[in-house]
Amino acid sequence: MTDIAPEIHVLVLTDSPETAQLVSGLLEQAEGLKVHTSRATGGEAFTAVARHRPQIIVLADTLEHPPAIVASLDATAPEIPLLVILSEGDVAAVEACSLLGAGAVLLKPFEQQRLVGAIQLLHSRELRRRQFMAPAETAAGAPRQQRPRVVAVHGAKGGVGTTTIACNLAATLHQLTGRRVALVDGDLLGGDAGVLFDLTATRTMAELVPELAELDAESVDSYFVQHSSGVHVLLTPKELQRAEGIQAADVQRALNGLRPYFDYQIVDTPSYFLPATMAVMDEADLIILVVTPELAALRNAARFLRLVAQLGIPSEKILLLANRADAGRQITPDVLEEHLLQPIAMTIPHDGKAPLECMNAGELLVAAYPRSRVAVGLHTLAGQVAGQFGWQPQGQARGVRQTPGGLQQTPVPAGGSPFQRLIKRWIPAGRIAPRQDLPKDRPVFSDQVPAS
Ligand SMILES: Nc1ncnc2c1ncn2[C@@H]1O[C@H](COP(=O)(O)OP(=O)(O)OP(=O)(O)O)[C@@H](O)[C@H]1O
Ligand SMILES: [Mg+2]
Repeated sequence: MTDIAPEIHVLVLTDSPETAQLVSGLLEQAEGLKVHTSRATGGEAFTAVARHRPQIIVLADTLEHPPAIVASLDATAPEIPLLVILSEGDVAAVEACSLLGAGAVLLKPFEQQRLVGAIQLLHSRELRRRQFMAPAETAAGAPRQQRPRVVAVHGAKGGVGTTTIACNLAATLHQLTGRRVALVDGDLLGGDAGVLFDLTATRTMAELVPELAELDAESVDSYFVQHSSGVHVLLTPKELQRAEGIQAADVQRALNGLRPYFDYQIVDTPSYFLPATMAVMDEADLIILVVTPELAALRNAARFLRLVAQLGIPSEKILLLANRADAGRQITPDVLEEHLLQPIAMTIPHDGKAPLECMNAGELLVAAYPRSRVAVGLHTLAGQVAGQFGWQPQGQARGVRQTPGGLQQTPVPAGGSPFQRLIKRWIPAGRIAPRQDLPKDRPVFSDQVPAS
């Protein structure tokens, strides 16, 4: 039996009878497309959209300025992807149409293949987006479904993928558990969670902090922007002067004050040790330490682990994650474990395409490339994090390290390689004991909200 893919319904909106004939002729030659046409102006477009319920709209040669029609279609039928055909060199219209909601713009002249390809691409993107639509969740004021948890995601050094992992983990946790998940941008000065989610906010951590005492179930969501994945995102202010005014204690109070309203708060942190970074670590129930197979990352991860050990933070609160784990020939997950004296709980492979493409398209990787190896790794991570706090993933083996395929283990020559000499120089051996002079009642990983 052969699978017959359902037809994609395309509505061509144009005020030129010649264009209507030409475009619909090109589309009808392609398999799997069902074409309808209508005039673009005079209200007929909206009637046609309601009647045909197309999956894709193609807009070409209109009497009215195309960006104006794009804006009205985006306002009335935002769920239908829009492909706009414009004249070659009409840069201003390209820019305006993209800003106002067009999913893609095609410049004349083009071949049939490009037109059909663009339609298929838009359609499959929309299908993927819907597949990842948020499951229902409880409201801010409803009793939490679990003890609220704060999960800090921290990079051993800059650029190791911390923000990518934090944002995608938040979305995947919500998708997996259906619980209320917040992503808090704790990288106050350099935070780019907004870029990853393609979101801007008028209210941020700077507005939240002075209002913490008044915070309640009605007001809490006004500080967050809800992403289409269902994640509630708390951004850091755009202006550095305002971000600089947020104190470490404010961050900790905010995370603690938000606990009653979220089952999970995933906090993206900077890789440098600002007081605010340590405040997040103090408030966290779990720290995901992201390390990549680079000597500098390994060195800093070792330093971080020694610091937290010295501060009396138990190693069970740290989940070691190797990102781009298969990218290093010398530093394999086993080498990381050997020198960090801690098991790698999770490995995520290197992917030269999807993470970068998603960042530059304002799309979440787990939504845009759900079957990529990075997305699969992030799903496993979400299951592991939720599982650690008592949620039981269905039919999934737990506690298994996910090792990426094709990992090369390089034999070490007798007498030690240059790399081993570098390791000796930069990575101290042996465990470190907690400092004895710490006050006994120092709050470490405060867990102050009682179990529900
Ligand atoms: N598994 C991966 N494979 C390939 N590229 C990746 C992977 N994870 C993240 N990246 C890419 O690495 C770059 C840095 O990612 P990201 O901004 O998330 O890192 P970061 O640690 O938060 O950086 P910063 O220190 O600037 O905050 C991005 O281009 C991202 O797309
Ligand atoms: Mg970052």
